[in-house]
Amino acid sequence: MLPSKVTLVEVGPRDGLQNEPGTIACADKIALIHALAEAGLTRIEAGAFVNPKWVPQMADSEAVFAGIERRSGVSYSALTPNLKGFERARAARASEVAIFAAASEAFSRKNLNCSIDDSLARFSDVTRAARAANIPVRGYISCVLGCPYSGAVDPALCVEIAQALLAMGCFEVSLGDTIGVGTVASTRALLEPMLKAIGPEQLAVHMHDTYGQALANVYQSLQMGISVVDASVAGLGGCPYAQGASGNLATEDVLYLLNGLGIEHGVALDKIVQAGDQICRTLGIANHSRVAQALLANFKK
Ligand code: HMG
Ligand code: MG
Repeated sequence: MLPSKVTLVEVGPRDGLQNEPGTIACADKIALIHALAEAGLTRIEAGAFVNPKWVPQMADSEAVFAGIERRSGVSYSALTPNLKGFERARAARASEVAIFAAASEAFSRKNLNCSIDDSLARFSDVTRAARAANIPVRGYISCVLGCPYSGAVDPALCVEIAQALLAMGCFEVSLGDTIGVGTVASTRALLEPMLKAIGPEQLAVHMHDTYGQALANVYQSLQMGISVVDASVAGLGGCPYAQGASGNLATEDVLYLLNGLGIEHGVALDKIVQAGDQICRTLGIANHSRVAQALLANFKK
């Protein structure tokens, strides 16, 4: 059964911009975040407090957090891989932080420079500190539908990691198809055991669109009761540790799907289209949202 309301988690300013090769001015990041909040998004991933040598595009996250004018009712979150990242996020007044494990040893080593077990130990330090500071923690699991280094991933391992993240205090776990290889069948095969172990209200999906399957996979997830969906304006992004991975499913495309289904979401599609168009023009890059391409062509008529 489909949910009556869906919450979007906008990851463009982080997952999207972290992978752009060119320089991005801090002011442009801030303008994008303002435009996304103005359009009605209430959960925005605004930056990452990771090692700047590993992901240079997120090196100015302190300045981004300092520069945003916060709207009430909007959560501005940041990735925090370890306690050092958490302390930076707390000092920057992030409303929420996110820890990110992987369902693949090979990807964990590339992305976090440690094993899955070691990453979970570091994350439990973060969740402990976050609990003491009253800051909610989201958990991610990367590579739930396939790993760029080791191929197929066992859904049972994903369930185990999701349970570990929830047990250490995450309020929600976002299931990431980091390289966008998933299909409706593999999404179902993951969610069936996942939903036997964990309620849908504690799960989100984070689909990259490399093979053009992300929207179908989101629809499959909605049908199985998931009601939190990650998306990236204009389909920005990819993952620096997953060669060839394209951006997340575009926010505009998810909104169009939800509008067609009559599912409430609280976001103004036209404003998101303008925000996506603006950042793509600023960066001189193509807009990967099919819905934005169609609507922008109509605006010009
Ligand atoms: P490491 O090099 O093993 O860390 O990196 P270390 O503890 O050995 O420290 C090395 C240096 O990094 C030290 O500095 C630390 O102070 C510094 P030095 O003494 O050499 O000058 N350092 C930091 N600096 C700033 N902030 C920090 C921090 N931590 C250490 N937080 C580490 C380990 C986890 C830090 C590194 O591997 C890292 O930053 N990884 C993050 C990679 C990343 O951001 N990947 C992209 C995001 S994940 C993603 O996109 C997937 C997702 O979208 C879901 C999906 O699609 O599946 C979420
Ligand atoms: Mg991602």
